[in-house]
Amino acid sequence: MKSINSTKPAAKTNSESIHWYDHPEWYEAGFLKETPSEARFLEDVFRKFVPFPVERVLEAGCGSGRLVREMARRGYAVTGMDLNQPALDFCEKTLKQIGCRAVLSKQDMTDFQFDQPFDAAFNAINTFRHLETETAALSHLKCVAKHLRPGGVFVLSLHIVPHDGELWGTERWSVKTPEFSIRYALSVEQVDEAKRIETLKMTMKVLIDGQEKKLTDHLRLRLYDVEQLKALLAKVKGLELVRTYDFWFDINDPCRLSKKSCDVVLVLQKKA
Ligand SMILES: C[S@@+](CC[C@H](N)C(=O)[O-])C[C@H]1O[C@@H](n2cnc3c(N)ncnc32)[C@H](O)[C@@H]1O
Repeated sequence: MKSINSTKPAAKTNSESIHWYDHPEWYEAGFLKETPSEARFLEDVFRKFVPFPVERVLEAGCGSGRLVREMARRGYAVTGMDLNQPALDFCEKTLKQIGCRAVLSKQDMTDFQFDQPFDAAFNAINTFRHLETETAALSHLKCVAKHLRPGGVFVLSLHIVPHDGELWGTERWSVKTPEFSIRYALSVEQVDEAKRIETLKMTMKVLIDGQEKKLTDHLRLRLYDVEQLKALLAKVKGLELVRTYDFWFDINDPCRLSKKSCDVVLVLQKKA
């Protein structure tokens, strides 16, 4: 008679260096929980600040499209733009699965071109900080301003460095779906204060079909403190900062942009 081994076989771990964004399904699983509240907040902003009904919206650096899908599902005419083809393909596939459509475009957010203006645009969770230089950041803001209707808004969310804040630290979280479970870890690996660049080490431990895959990537993000952010915004004549929020995404709870600010959501409006 065959003996039955009741202990669970240990999962084998394969380690590889990857680009996080080339695995859109695993990447976005870590951020799906926040998506409905972010989308609801965007709608609150549109109602509160935009003097006309918002229909056409643009997401810069849409990645796997968690917000593109959510906004399309809510009835907006959405355009998503990103440079990563696997992410755009995943976005297209998942839009079809939920019976929604959006325009997806492979373009650089520092220099993009669309024929029709947008009523609103957004750039979520530090995507903006991928732009490593002042020139790139300014080009993005100016390009967004050029593509907005007067009175339209740009919602920009990013982490900034508080004056007494720690640059070093690790954030860990995990998710489970019927197909896989993932443990994420995000830590600051290197800080170049002169160049205002931090390098983040991002690790995903994915348990799928009894196998564990460990995927590691290193991302470079531009650092901002509150003065640096204000100084940058002052150079963009077409956009005016009308309100600031934090990552609670609560329209009834705006906050001041100050030395203590850590996560900020800026509502910038195209001047009429
Ligand atoms: C942090 S992910 C965010 C994805 C999505 N916005 C979200 O909230 O889930 C950043 C995305 O920005 C894209 N990206 C980085 N630099 C870009 C650029 N210059 N132009 C367009 N997309 C860019 C990356 O490919 C990646 O998909």
